[in-house]
Amino acid sequence: MTLVNQRDLFEIPDDVAYLNCAYMSPLPRASREAGEAGVARKSQPWTISAADFFSGSESARELFANLVGGDADGVAIVPSASYGIALSAANIPLRSGQAIVLLEDQFPSNVYPWRDLAARMGATIITVQRPSDFDWTSAVLAQIDERTGVVALPHCHWTDGSLLDLRRIGERARAVGAALVIDGAQSVGAHPFDVGEIQPDFLVAVTYKWLLGPYSLGFVYAAPHRRAGIPLEANWITREDSEDFAGLVDYRDAFQPGARRYDMGERSNFALMPVAVASLRQLLAWRVEEIAATLRGLTDYVEAGARRIGLDPVPSDRRVGHLIGLRSSAAFPADLSKQLTDAGVYVSLRGSAIRVSPHLYNTREECDRLFAVLARVL
Ligand SMILES: Cc1ncc(COP(=O)(O)O)c(C=O)c1O
Repeated sequence: MTLVNQRDLFEIPDDVAYLNCAYMSPLPRASREAGEAGVARKSQPWTISAADFFSGSESARELFANLVGGDADGVAIVPSASYGIALSAANIPLRSGQAIVLLEDQFPSNVYPWRDLAARMGATIITVQRPSDFDWTSAVLAQIDERTGVVALPHCHWTDGSLLDLRRIGERARAVGAALVIDGAQSVGAHPFDVGEIQPDFLVAVTYKWLLGPYSLGFVYAAPHRRAGIPLEANWITREDSEDFAGLVDYRDAFQPGARRYDMGERSNFALMPVAVASLRQLLAWRVEEIAATLRGLTDYVEAGARRIGLDPVPSDRRVGHLIGLRSSAAFPADLSKQLTDAGVYVSLRGSAIRVSPHLYNTREECDRLFAVLARVL
């Protein structure tokens, strides 16, 4: 099933064709209002109780768990993908001589922590080259063997949306005893992810793109056997009985249950958390399967239009529905970005691709405006 256009729930002027959710999503109006109410509370801190330090975080944990088919106990609250990947890297035992499998041109937040770990442990990085037929899955499977310690991947490539079959990759990783770490920044919320099916050791997501939420907030889902690890920070709220503010100096070694031990300091963010909660509620009401199906209709339309003007898009069966990269055999003009924004069209240039990433507020007419500019300047 597909959804009707939802532009009314956002605050996007008619002359803005915002096809750039992979860069940063706009907030639904209701989420902005929730955030403004949150900021206002800070002006009146006597309205913020000890219980409030826990209730918003627990709601967010529960909602994110619902989105990915997991349990709230498995969810930690983090500020960024880089933090979530660093947390994962700190909790995966790796031996000298083992290998870490990454993709060519993978987003740096899912590269630097592994380079660092590899250097410290004497491990090697194996970078899977971009396949010309966009079949990342076969290319990754071919690189996983008994030496593999970690497979750290996205669900789709951030530059062009080309898709990986994480269920098959996860199966292979488990068969050789390797851990699977997923950077879901460019997919969770817009492409279905089921932790029961894919069984990642850690899944990392950020709220400011496809979760339609604030900047500086994200989640990590930790598999049940990864919930007794070492947090990056030694903070107070993650400790057992931290609800009892009067007893905080009865220092504890024991933690709150599950992945809560991994939460960042000051995770009870009274301005940002209500925004994330409102947006997660909206996504669950729409349902990720239906968001994905609706957005695929738009990117398939972009794919057809791109072919007509001689561009080389990632084909529908090799990519996610919400993100499409358009490549050209010729170099793009240096002022392409400016030409597009002058026409009120917002996309990203990433690597050698024009990345188009719509959401439920976009229309085919806006895609036509993109093509009008591209046909003129390419
Ligand atoms: C694949 C991917 N991961 C992560 C991020 C963001 O990383 P961080 O939260 O560390 O800034 C982005 C941002 O564009 C991304 O595309």
